[in-house]
Amino acid sequence: MICQLFQNPIKNFVVFCFFVFILLSQRELVLASSLQSVDRPFTIALLPDTQKYKNFSGIARAHIFDSQTQWIADHIIDENIVLTLHLGDIVDISVNSLWDAALSSLDYLNGLVPLVLTAGNHDISELVDPGSATYTESYQLFNKRVPASRFNKLPWFGGIYEKGKIENAYYFFNFGRVEYIVLALEYGPRDKVLDWANKIVEKYSEKTAIIVTHAYMAKGPKRLKAGDKYSPKLKEVPYHSKEYEYLSKEIWANDGDVIWERLAKKHKNIMFVFSGHSKGPGKLISKGVNGNPVFQVGANYQWEENGGNGYLRLMKFYPKTKKVTVKTYSPLLDHFRTDWENQFLIDLNTGEFLKLELPSSP
Ligand SMILES: [Fe+2]
Repeated sequence: MICQLFQNPIKNFVVFCFFVFILLSQRELVLASSLQSVDRPFTIALLPDTQKYKNFSGIARAHIFDSQTQWIADHIIDENIVLTLHLGDIVDISVNSLWDAALSSLDYLNGLVPLVLTAGNHDISELVDPGSATYTESYQLFNKRVPASRFNKLPWFGGIYEKGKIENAYYFFNFGRVEYIVLALEYGPRDKVLDWANKIVEKYSEKTAIIVTHAYMAKGPKRLKAGDKYSPKLKEVPYHSKEYEYLSKEIWANDGDVIWERLAKKHKNIMFVFSGHSKGPGKLISKGVNGNPVFQVGANYQWEENGGNGYLRLMKFYPKTKKVTVKTYSPLLDHFRTDWENQFLIDLNTGEFLKLELPSSP
């Protein structure tokens, strides 16, 4: 049969041309498909503080947290959701029963989309004595319930600051044509954590950096500063004063203004800082020392009805036009918040926030 095929030169030429045509067509198809995939818009979902969806005094709204993660899981393909970032305060108090509920909600994302968790002040607020309602700041249970071992075998895991502690960690992703590094930093990162973060961002200076830390933005176009109600830094202490040296040894907490000065403004590859914690959404563009715009965005709805009614943030990146739409959506209510604070466009070319028209879908 094979011998017969090669006996007629004209027929052979026709067959040869046919296969060349098929191969070239397939190559074009593969190329077109790969171009389409790298240029396809992708979405990063932000989960603001979820602490009020189940709290220690018995309020049970875990179904609202479930509605958020179920929605993300259900729309991974059509919205091309490539990453979920929890902005911290996953739980109301760091006790096992609340971690059980929160991790059960987050389980809907398990194995479907990368999830980066940020430690909030409530995630490290451990109950010492239920009788007197005494709490202590500790990452012990946080790291027990969200162990580093859960992350360090994942292909997108980068590294951590302290062995076995996931509150300061970095992760690598490729979205569109861009390589990203995501750094999750502890609540009010200590000086030595900021030193470490500087080294990591510098080491991977070819990657676009996203910083996520719980307490950074205040309401409106402002970062948290010393003395603000929601600042981890309750009062200003002169840098390198005796009191500062004492406080900085262990739990001295830096707020948005300090994180900006000592980390975010210093690197040309830092593009975003995301946070939760403060009352009211905030957004601000500041220019770093290299002239690059840094887009700083905060969201948290925990004080609103039903502990936030399940509002989450959807940041859709358009690689071709270098624009990002930011929408605030509640899967529970099937409702968008379309005011200027909650819905806007980020133009990465011009470095500005722009008005975004009313969407018809997420
Ligand atoms: Fe908080």
